[in-house]
Amino acid sequence: MGHPGAGPTERTPLRVPTSPSRRGLSPQPALRQVMAQFATGVTVLTAGGADPHGMTANAFSSVSLDPPLVLCCVAKAARMHSSIVAAGSFAVNILASDQQAVSKYFADWKRPDGLAQFDAVSWTPGGKTGAPLFTGALAWLECELAQVVEGGDHSVFLGRVVATGRGAGEDALIFYSGGYHDVEGRAA
Ligand SMILES: Cc1cc2nc3c(=O)[nH]c(=O)nc-3n(C[C@H](O)[C@H](O)[C@H](O)COP(=O)(O)O)c2cc1C
Repeated sequence: MGHPGAGPTERTPLRVPTSPSRRGLSPQPALRQVMAQFATGVTVLTAGGADPHGMTANAFSSVSLDPPLVLCCVAKAARMHSSIVAAGSFAVNILASDQQAVSKYFADWKRPDGLAQFDAVSWTPGGKTGAPLFTGALAWLECELAQVVEGGDHSVFLGRVVATGRGAGEDALIFYSGGYHDVEGRAA
């Protein structure tokens, strides 16, 4: 039996971190700042069908190998959201280090609607989904929409992977601390 009150943890006052709101920060900027420390690749999600669209996204992850599942998180306010739901499928283009301009373009609300937006890149329609696959990407996946999970102001789209391939790109484009980097961590 120990000695009640004698342990160092009981003598040391608990250090509770000051909450973001008590430091004058609302939780959203604090969350953005913290998540910006998580380095990711960069993708462009695409959907074909009657409402084709593409959108830059880094909220992408593998989920399961068997069955093969990936996820991406798309803002409910994004045009991409209704486009994926309408198509019932999507593709994920994993961008190469020389595709920073492609990432910026597909994050810019001023780009054209419909298929015209893809005139800016070289692409082919996916054999399984018809979603645009970028020739210069590092790699791509075609997915059937398996499940839509509620996620606040975003939806989590779970995709069953039905085809994969490699593009012409060689090194990954990295997004970290609000900026683009190459795989060696240099600002690009
Ligand atoms: C590097 C980067 C990553 C992004 N990741 C996401 C993401 O994962 N999900 C999302 O909904 N928006 C993300 N965005 C924002 C969208 O690309 C942007 O709001 C886009 O204009 C929405 O397009 P849409 O409304 O035409 O579909 C990201 C933007 C950048 C630059």
